[in-house]
Formats: sequence, structure tokens, C-alpha cells
Amino acid sequence: MEPVKIGLLGLGTVGGGTVGVLRRNAGEITRRAGRGIEIARAAARDLNRPRPFDTSGIALTTDPNEVVDDPELAIIVELIGGDTLARDLVLRAIEQGKHVVTANKALIAKHGNEIFAAASERGVMVAFEAAVAGGIPIIKAIREGLAANHIEWLAGIINGTGNFILTEMRDKGRDFADVLKEAQALGYAEADPTFDVEGIDAAHKLTILASIAFGIPLQFDAVYTEGISRITREDVAYAEELGYRIKHLGITRRNSHGIELRVHPTLIPERRLIANVDGVMNAVLVKGDAVGPTLYYGAGAGAEPTASAVVADIVDVVRTLTADPENRVPHLAFQPDALSDQPVLDMAQVETAYYLRMQAQDRPGVLAEVTRILGDHGISIEAIIQKEPLPGTPHATVIMLTHRVVEGNMNDAIAGIEALPVIEGSVTRIRVETLDGQ
Ligand code: HSE
Repeated sequence: MEPVKIGLLGLGTVGGGTVGVLRRNAGEITRRAGRGIEIARAAARDLNRPRPFDTSGIALTTDPNEVVDDPELAIIVELIGGDTLARDLVLRAIEQGKHVVTANKALIAKHGNEIFAAASERGVMVAFEAAVAGGIPIIKAIREGLAANHIEWLAGIINGTGNFILTEMRDKGRDFADVLKEAQALGYAEADPTFDVEGIDAAHKLTILASIAFGIPLQFDAVYTEGISRITREDVAYAEELGYRIKHLGITRRNSHGIELRVHPTLIPERRLIANVDGVMNAVLVKGDAVGPTLYYGAGAGAEPTASAVVADIVDVVRTLTADPENRVPHLAFQPDALSDQPVLDMAQVETAYYLRMQAQDRPGVLAEVTRILGDHGISIEAIIQKEPLPGTPHATVIMLTHRVVEGNMNDAIAGIEALPVIEGSVTRIRVETLDGQ
């Protein structure tokens, strides 16, 4: 049988990885897919840029429309990122009846509802395994492997750059900016690295995970997003003293009121496997009612790990080129007419435990004032540490762990504590999750 011809949009880090993996493993990939896969065309912004991979045999162009419009191509692989040009190109490919494989989380999180509707209408597939957690086949695991389950919650380290930064800061006491530069040089970071450190990249990925876990439309704008740029080395050290690690997590959970959708730094017990996921590695912990907690671990960024997911999607599409659209796995795991519109909860309605750090005057009665305010808001304390004031300063550092409470109550309590004359500056708050399979 003739090989399937595909076109690549983008020849950057992931594009290069995709070319390399497809060529190196061509024999086995053909045996799996049932047909050979030939990269016939590729578009790149700068054709003169030296590339560390072989592009011979690929017709190159700077115009992505030439690739999308080529009638010989059955699959368009979108690897340019961003959500403007990429959206136009993907919709144009769908319109022409071409299948699409993309690694673009921003595109799916923000425009996925529109893109999947267009794809269903035209009877083509849009595959996006590489958009979440790089090489970990988490989309396939949730969409297919866990299809029997009522999924209760999931929590993931889904940004490799952020995890790399937090790990290096903890292990080596390195500077935030210095580690970020290294992550950029290694090709882990987004074009705009604030997407990594401010949690936007993780929010894109969480949006996708929540939809396939719960069968809800993609709702990127509803994600509560907080980054890691305000985490200090002191917080990392105090968390360790209390038996916790700080990880930047994407968490989604459902309860009878609605769906929680949140990305923020989180203290998790150091004995949990996921607390020990370090460096650029990603991990997603999924709790299903039948299977219990399951953990998926692997490289979340980088050329070949991401290409592993891109190529797996290409193989999937090739395998189903002759299957009816009705017999394919639905894009968002649930049949398109069976998506439900459960409300996403406001952060003030979310219940978690908290780590609080504050600077307090070191004199009698101060702690009593703080604990009275917490008590008035129904907040129970689990642990307290007080650090001696540094020489020459009147302020001691007080660290508290609380039991679970609704965030709205905690907001009010923190406002009350910050208004106390004995408290200096603002209270640092980091949410705590036990992730204990309940
Ligand atoms: N910037 C992303 C990360 C790349 O660091 O995880 C993979 O999506």
C-alpha cells in the first residue's frame, strides 16, 4: 500500500523530534500503522536556519498554506504553537477534509470546542496527545483506559519548566532566573516563559484534562491560575520541616456543587509518589471510583518525548483512515451530544487546607490574637512553628498549617490577620492537598 503523506507545520524543537523519531523508527511504525508514513512537506519560518536534523526528501516552504492546501496530504501536523495562525491553519485543514495532529495546548484549550465541532462536521480527526504532559499518554489513558470509571479528581505536575525550577531551587539553592535560562536553552520553556512560571501553560493543559475526565466543554477562562514566581526558598524549607514538598499542581475535582478547576503552588505530603517527581518530569494522579488512584509519570517536555506523543497520534490516525467517524474515539472522550454543563466553582467556594506564613511581633498574646481570628472563621489549626526573630528585628516568623476550610472563610480570616497591628506585611498562603486517594 502507498505510504500516507503528511505535512508538518513548524520545524522547531518538536518538529525536529518528530522528523527524527518517524525516520529512526520507520520500520516498526509501519508495522504498527499498517502503512508507511512519509513527511512530504513542511513549513518553517526560516529555511536558512541550520537544523540539527536531516530534512532531505521533504519539500520545504515558508508558506504554511502551501502545506495545508496540498491535496496529496492526508494529515497535517501542527507544531507552530500559538492560537491565532495555528487556529486558522487547523480550521483550513479540517475544511479541506484533512486530519490534524497537534501538540498545541493553547489552541485546544481556547478553541477546541470550535475545532472539534468543525472536525465532527467534516468527519475528520483532531488528535492532541502531545498537548498535555509531553510524552505521557495521559489523554489516551483517561479517554480509553479509564472509560469505565466515574473520575472523581485528578492532580498533575503538568509543566516541566516550573517543576524543573522548583526542583533546582530546592536541591541546589539555585536562583530562579538562572534555572529558567537553562530550561529555555534545553527547549522546555514556552516561547513566552511567563506561560510556564505563571501557570498559564498548566491551565491550558488542565482545561483539556478536566474536559476528558468529566465530559464538560473546554473552559480555559474558568481556570483559577496562580504561578510559582512568589515561592521563596524559605517556604520550600519550612514546608520540608513540616513533611511537605511544594509542587505546582493543576487540580480538578468534582463535587455535588460543581467542578473545581485550579492551578497553584501546593504543599503535598513528601511521602506521596507525586511529591518525588523532580526536574522536567511530569506526573498526573487520577482517581477513578473503580480503579482507585492511578499515577502516570514521564517526560513532559523536550523534542523526542513530545514527538513520541505526536507520532503515536499520527499512527492512530493512519490506523483509522478507513474507519467511520461514528466508530472512532470521541475527541473529548464523551460523545459530543453528551457533554454536560456542570458549573465551574468560584475559588471562594473551594475547600482546601492551608500553609500560612506571617511576620508577627514577638510578644505575649500575639499568637492568641491570630488564632482567635482563625477560630472565629471556623478554621482549625493543625500545626504551628515559630522561628526566632533575626537579630535586630522585632518580628518572628510564624508558620501554620490549617485543616480544610472553604477559601472564602480563609480570605476573610487573612484580611483580619493582616489588619492586626502586631502583624507586619501580608500573610503568605499556599494551599495544601493530601492527595490521599479519598
Ligand atoms: N513549556 C512546557 C513545559 C512544554 O515546560 O512543560 C511542554 O508543554
